[in-house]
Amino acid sequence: MTDIRKFKSLKFDNMKPGQGEDVRNLILEVARSKKQSLTPEGRTAFERYISAPVMENRAGMGYKIELAMIDGRLIGVLETRGADCVSMLYVHPDYAHLGIGSRLVFRAASRCAAGGFKKLTTYVVDEDVGFYERVGFVQCGDRRETLGIPSTPYKLSMSPYDKKPPSKLRSASVEFFVFSGTGNTLLAAREASGALKNEGREVHLHDMKADNGEILARLDDDAAVGLAFPVACFSTYPAAWRFIESMPFGYGREVFVLSTCGGFSGGMQGPLGEILNKKGYRLLAAKFLIMPGNYGNKTIPAEKNAHRVEKARSDTRAFVSDMLAGRASWGGYPWGARFTHWLAQTRAPWNFFYRLFPILTDKTKCTHCSLCESICPAYAITKDKDGYPVVDRHVCESCQRCVGFCPSSALGNPKKPAAQYRAMDYKDFKITEPENR
Ligand SMILES: Cc1cc2nc3c(=O)[nH]c(=O)nc-3n(C[C@H](O)[C@H](O)[C@H](O)COP(=O)(O)O)c2cc1C
Ligand code: SF4
Ligand code: SF4
Repeated sequence: MTDIRKFKSLKFDNMKPGQGEDVRNLILEVARSKKQSLTPEGRTAFERYISAPVMENRAGMGYKIELAMIDGRLIGVLETRGADCVSMLYVHPDYAHLGIGSRLVFRAASRCAAGGFKKLTTYVVDEDVGFYERVGFVQCGDRRETLGIPSTPYKLSMSPYDKKPPSKLRSASVEFFVFSGTGNTLLAAREASGALKNEGREVHLHDMKADNGEILARLDDDAAVGLAFPVACFSTYPAAWRFIESMPFGYGREVFVLSTCGGFSGGMQGPLGEILNKKGYRLLAAKFLIMPGNYGNKTIPAEKNAHRVEKARSDTRAFVSDMLAGRASWGGYPWGARFTHWLAQTRAPWNFFYRLFPILTDKTKCTHCSLCESICPAYAITKDKDGYPVVDRHVCESCQRCVGFCPSSALGNPKKPAAQYRAMDYKDFKITEPENR
């Protein structure tokens, strides 16, 4: 079994002048291992196509020849003609079935989607049909012979709305970005992080705030992105959207979602998938977990909550193992979700929620500790002239963080008294782990 940690050194780069001979040697080694049966005419055409000067000439003419390397060793090559046609793909036999080919394909797909193309096409020789079908290509024409090489046209749809076969999480490391109002999502992200680490993956948790988008710009080529956030108003909080918008182009990087909710996600993974797809990320899987309600509780049903948390934990572990085995998927794309996504980008739902659950300060309880002000992700809290917190209703995103973590239970709506909910004590509400704090 190949050690997954080797993939930490996986790098992708364009073929440079002078590398043609190395690429040709790799292709010949792969071709020998496959015992390709070509007609004499086919062999001549193949050898000419992969000769170093011809390849370098094509690269000079604008073909993109992308190389995959581990520890500096050339292990794979993918060529695209234009942005939407794969004209060759080879992976060294020592690295077959480890996802190198699919990573090269999805890097090409990400460029294709970014260029506004609807599909990535290719001509597939018989022995490679299984691979292309596994990564989601479908046949789009009849098998025919060109220059003595029989092949069949295949296409990969760029639309996230077209069903794709589930694929495994391949990356050796995961950068996990977490937004949590009252701690439910943080609990789930920690559980997923533990389960991934148990399977030998390296995981780093980060605060999901727009400033941290730049972390993604300097990641290893082989690092997946995990996004964890609560569902809010059938979408998610503007604070989480601000981060998602700040994400740089993904170049086919794997992405998965772990979200918590009270019971109904509204299919928000649909529009989110559309955005991430356009940004060049490879959609792996999305999971929505039901967690304890975090606002408006008259009393906290401790037993029911404990049961929900326990179930969410075990569902998270199952999700991780499904994702690693290629059994998890992104899920459906209800059209109604587009409307709620659009609505969540306006102030309407947040203003409406605030009208229902305004956040006022009980001056008899507040100790002026300033915690609420410092933890508000929207910077919606200031102090009045007497030093009491005041929430700006036009800025508040109703995430309930200040309400949940106020040490004096001083925030809420006196007209609708509710039990204070938080999934953990504030001292445990630290998103980053010690090594990357
Ligand atoms: C403003 C607001 C809106 C919410 N909207 C939804 C929703 O549309 N659907 C749902 O199932 N749960 C909804 N919830 C419940 C939260 O998604 C759920 O409690 C979540 O686990 C909170 O996670 P957190 O503790 O990490 O903030 C909402 C909660 C709040 C405060
Ligand atoms: S966290 Fe609570 S006690 Fe501290 S300043 Fe805010 S309202 Fe007052
Ligand atoms: S004021 Fe409170 S509820 Fe509103 S965004 Fe800030 S922390 Fe969240």
